[in-house]
Amino acid sequence: MKTLVIGTGGREHALALALSRDPAVTEVHAAPGNPGIASVATLHDVDPMDGAAVADLAMRVDADLVVVGPEAPLVAGVADAVREAGIACFGPSRAAAQLEGSKAFAKEVMAAAEVPTAMAHVCETPEQAAAALDAFGPPYVVKDDALAAGKGVVVTRDRRVAVEHAAACGRVVIEEFLDGPEVSLFAITDGETVLPLQPAQDFKRALDGDEGPNTGGMGAYTPLDWAPDGLVAEVSRRVLVPTVLEMARRGTPFQGLLYAGLALTSRGVRVVEFNARFGDPETQALLALLETPLSALLHGAATGTLADVGLPAWSEEVALSVVMASCNYPDTPRTGDRILGIDAAEAIEGVDVIQAGTALDDEGNLVTAGGRVLAVTATGETLEHARDRAYAGVDAIIIDGAHHRTDIALAAQLGDIEV
Ligand code: AMP
Ligand code: GLY
Repeated sequence: MKTLVIGTGGREHALALALSRDPAVTEVHAAPGNPGIASVATLHDVDPMDGAAVADLAMRVDADLVVVGPEAPLVAGVADAVREAGIACFGPSRAAAQLEGSKAFAKEVMAAAEVPTAMAHVCETPEQAAAALDAFGPPYVVKDDALAAGKGVVVTRDRRVAVEHAAACGRVVIEEFLDGPEVSLFAITDGETVLPLQPAQDFKRALDGDEGPNTGGMGAYTPLDWAPDGLVAEVSRRVLVPTVLEMARRGTPFQGLLYAGLALTSRGVRVVEFNARFGDPETQALLALLETPLSALLHGAATGTLADVGLPAWSEEVALSVVMASCNYPDTPRTGDRILGIDAAEAIEGVDVIQAGTALDDEGNLVTAGGRVLAVTATGETLEHARDRAYAGVDAIIIDGAHHRTDIALAAQLGDIEV
């Protein structure tokens, strides 16, 4: 099978790496890619937001399967353009990607499908926002309605900060605060069959101890030994399957990866958000443990034959990913800093260094080119083992001004997570 991965991030590097190790895959192409992806795929220069150009490239490389990684091209309809050209594509249509593209739309679908989520008000004016903030009380949760790369959400006890964020966004969703640990549960679906992956946990805040601003994600691990028995079955039954059924009922079937961001609250499971694509960096950890060939799952979803593939199989190990971010991230990141030590990190058993915001400078040196630069991903027999390896990998890498969290999966390792 010839595959083409669209995107430039760590998720796309992890996808391309897994495809390159899949015996059923003969060629991996990627566009636009990054220097890490170039080590496992043939890169092509294409605007990932231009559906016609992506479809044209897919035809030129004779792709059997196109995988659209990030949300922005999905929301722009790039998967539709590829499918219209007669090529199998993993990723939802423009209409179905609205589950991520608009938080208000996602709330409407959840209401129709009776999926448990936070109570919310969609607000268009400062007066409506003020009334909603007072109705829920602190901590305040204010979400930009539109795509914001994980950075459009403010959770704060400071009413003034909440009011300012609402004013800066325009249309916002204001919702009740959900307590309890967060879980990322992904499902691969062809619009009918729903195959959940194993649960993972992501770390959204920039700093240790869940302090600092929200980011796209600073680290992840899987599986979750503290998750309640039956969590996957319950989330399938109450969240994933009803959502997929509701999307089909509306005539906009969801085909691709449905990402349920969940809070395990004192009152039960609640959906925090839906995304319409693989999560980053959860994917780096998940794919490190996936034993089912990735191409079978993605192609099955893209061609409506997922029922023939069956539930994915997992290694017994634990995987953990630590993001190294540029100076200033999640504010405007500094770029052009040299990245040294990837080979030394990858010399550690079980470690893969997944690249996101990287580029080559004029002299051919690897440099930073975005906010999240690397995801140092390790597997191990236990969480402690995987953590030790991942952080040894982080310690081997030198990037001037970079920062990372030192407490990824620490609470789980210490047995400190209470559900
Ligand atoms: P979102 O983009 O909707 O996933 O929000 C980003 C992050 O903000 C989530 O992963 C949570 O950590 C936090 N968050 C979002 N909604 C809520 C909520 N209703 N209650 C508590 N925290 C939330
Ligand atoms: N890790 C969070 C996300 O991909 O949105």
